[in-house]
Amino acid sequence: MPSPAPLETTTQRLADPATANRACQRCHQEIASEWRSSLHRQAHTDPHYQSQFKIEPFAFCTGCHAPEADPRKPVPKTISDLGVGCVTCHVSDDHVLASTTPSSAARPGAHHAVTRSAAFSTAAACANCHEFSFPRAGLRESRSGPLMMQSTVTEHAASAFADRSCAACHMPKVRGEDGRLHRDHRFLGGRDAAAVRRSVRASPSWDGKTFALSLEPGDVGHAFPTGDMLRRLKLTVSVIDSSGAEVDRYVRHLQRHFGFQHGATTAPRRVLIRDDRIGTTNAPVRVTYRPKTVPPGGSVRYDLTYERVVGPPDERGDVLVDGAISVVAGELALD
Ligand code: HEC
Ligand code: HEC
Ligand code: HEC
Ligand code: HEC
Ligand code: HEC
Repeated sequence: MPSPAPLETTTQRLADPATANRACQRCHQEIASEWRSSLHRQAHTDPHYQSQFKIEPFAFCTGCHAPEADPRKPVPKTISDLGVGCVTCHVSDDHVLASTTPSSAARPGAHHAVTRSAAFSTAAACANCHEFSFPRAGLRESRSGPLMMQSTVTEHAASAFADRSCAACHMPKVRGEDGRLHRDHRFLGGRDAAAVRRSVRASPSWDGKTFALSLEPGDVGHAFPTGDMLRRLKLTVSVIDSSGAEVDRYVRHLQRHFGFQHGATTAPRRVLIRDDRIGTTNAPVRVTYRPKTVPPGGSVRYDLTYERVVGPPDERGDVLVDGAISVVAGELALD
């Protein structure tokens, strides 16, 4: 199955991945133009990745973000431009891998043999890159095993959508210019406002003293947010008086909260303190807030925003926000 470059290799996986990838793009043009707009294509050129890599320049990172390169050497431009390419997911030991369901776009007479794989039709096609522990896990180990940097595959297996593949949601069938269906290779996810808004069902309430917001997973096959630790939900609750002025405000971040444990003789270890993302347990996430003052004729406003941040978000939450999507917002009268 598709994987990061193994760290013990002495060379890159394919002799000339850029040329091979160009050939795929020439014949599969629509899929190629979708892939060119995807984050997979940008996995190594992405300025956000490049700035984080400067802080932690590990071969481990290169193995996943430029999987066709030799991870221990500087990445040549042609390979950097490939990111996670066609060849990364589809070419294994000279076979072109495909799922067990032939695409309805199939024209007779493929110009190459295709190996149909049952595993490629499941989460296994994504698992080797979308689930992994922190590097130097020994330093950051929790009691229950290595501390995970991303755990989307485990979250998926525990979700209500465990029987739908990652591709079923992230590569929906779309109609091409020739009128036939193919799998969308834009790999939309956390930058797609419609997908983000479908991911949660929110029920707000006010009982005269306390505002409560109950959050349940919607059409999402893993925790929300999932993936990198640089994603979080920010809930802002404001109390507004009858003149429209804000008189009280409460902010809460829903995310994986990491910290450091200091031993007497050991180096500090990164540990997971709390995980209050949506969909990590069967119970809804319930946030409550009791305002200091309840102005007559006033209201309470709430806004839940999905944020991509730069640099590990901490408890205070004051980090640079790289992108944001408002997920749900509303207002309730206080009396
Ligand atoms: C000379 C043209 C050509 C080249 C080069 C080429 N393909 Fe294809 N490929 C085809 C044709 C034609 C088919 C038949 C199905 C279709 O029309 O999409 C096909 C079928 C496939 C399928 C199976 C589709 C199904 O039915 O599930 C996959 C996957 C695929 N190609 C991937 C690749 C990848 C990856 C590369 C580069 C390593 C590549 N192809 C290079 C022409 C080409
Ligand atoms: C070789 C490793 C690799 C494989 C295999 C892989 N991915 Fe990814 N994926 C990445 C990397 C790296 C990124 C981050 C790119 C970036 O933004 O820098 C990513 C990003 C994504 C994103 C965008 C996330 C966002 O923030 O919107 C989605 C969605 C995604 N992958 C889905 C999939 C699915 C579905 C599969 C399996 C069919 C898959 N990936 C297979 C490495 C991989
Ligand atoms: C991150 C992994 C990934 C990348 C990158 C990727 N593919 Fe795919 N592709 C898949 C998966 C997984 C499927 C099968 C989905 C299913 O049917 O379950 C697929 C399906 C296909 C199919 C057949 C299905 C169809 O609907 O037509 C073709 C052809 C194809 N890919 C070509 C390409 C080409 C060409 C590129 C590069 C421009 C590319 N892929 C890049 C993972 C990837
Ligand atoms: C039932 C549909 C569904 C399934 C199945 C699913 N996802 Fe998602 N995924 C979503 C939606 C909706 C979003 C946007 C909300 C979000 O950002 O979490 C998303 C977002 C993402 C992101 C962006 C990170 C983030 O949370 O911002 C990644 C990466 C991702 N999915 C990977 C995967 C992988 C890998 C699998 C399979 C193990 C998978 N997804 C299965 C629906 C699904
Ligand atoms: C095993 C594969 C893997 C390894 C190793 C890995 N990443 Fe990633 N990275 C991913 C995937 C998959 C995503 C997409 C998940 C998401 O969007 O939330 C991602 C997303 C990111 C993002 C967010 C990109 C954006 O535009 O929002 C940054 C930054 C990043 N990785 C930096 C790093 C750095 C630095 C390292 C090394 C310390 C590293 N990664 C190691 C797979 C990997």
